[in-house]
Amino acid sequence: MFVKLGIIGGSGFYQSPGKSEEKTVKTPFGEVPVVLSKIKGKKVAFVARHTKNHSIPPHLVNYKANIYALYTLGIDRIISTSAVGSLDKKIIPGTFVIPDQFIDFTKKRPNTFFDGIFEVTLHSGKMRSGVIHTDFSNPYCLNLRKTIIEAAQEINQQIIGKGVYICTEGPRFETPAEIKAYKKLGGTIVGMTSATESILARELGMCYSTICLVTNLAAGMQEKITAEEVYELFKSKMDDLVALIEKSIENLTLSQDKCDCNQI
Ligand code: HPA
Repeated sequence: MFVKLGIIGGSGFYQSPGKSEEKTVKTPFGEVPVVLSKIKGKKVAFVARHTKNHSIPPHLVNYKANIYALYTLGIDRIISTSAVGSLDKKIIPGTFVIPDQFIDFTKKRPNTFFDGIFEVTLHSGKMRSGVIHTDFSNPYCLNLRKTIIEAAQEINQQIIGKGVYICTEGPRFETPAEIKAYKKLGGTIVGMTSATESILARELGMCYSTICLVTNLAAGMQEKITAEEVYELFKSKMDDLVALIEKSIENLTLSQDKCDCNQI
């Protein structure tokens, strides 16, 4: 099956929309269950970031295997979904945000393919190996973001088209003092996954963008945060999220056209 678009479903999003077929993709970093399906007539590969029964916490997700599995399938664009807390009280739970920048506060997880010995041939044919420093001026693909933002307009889905994603190590939520500091640094939303995926996808020459759903105000901005409220909020917005993803896929041209952000 020839697939070009990958979807990584985050917390609360465990199943690919559309009819599907499961397969296990073997990678040098581990095996990844991938669901191949057809959405709006296009072939899509879906990975549940935390597995389909949410058994893997954010700091232990095998990000390298997930991204490499999608790369192996010939995919050059990835849309992920991420549950996030909001650092801005005007950006309330239920709001979709498409970040354009991130600040990465993760510390312990493997977050590069390039440890000095890895080598890979990108879909463009270019070889990358050894010591590599990847440009991150645009951590999230401009074209994918534009596609999602335009899709949201077409289906009358309110959306915030930019913002700074603060990526924490997790699995705990943040302290109010940390959130105050992140606000001062310019953060808009906080989550535990998307920066790592963006880094690894870009290292392999793949475009990546994430649809963040605000599930709560960040620590100190509401009395407390529970995982249950995150899942409940996510569930309540599932139909809107799927509609947004489907419209975005419909509008994507799955051609071999090279994206500008992908020039590494
Ligand atoms: N912090 C980090 N990750 C999250 C949050 C949060 O407040 N809400 C949903 N994912």
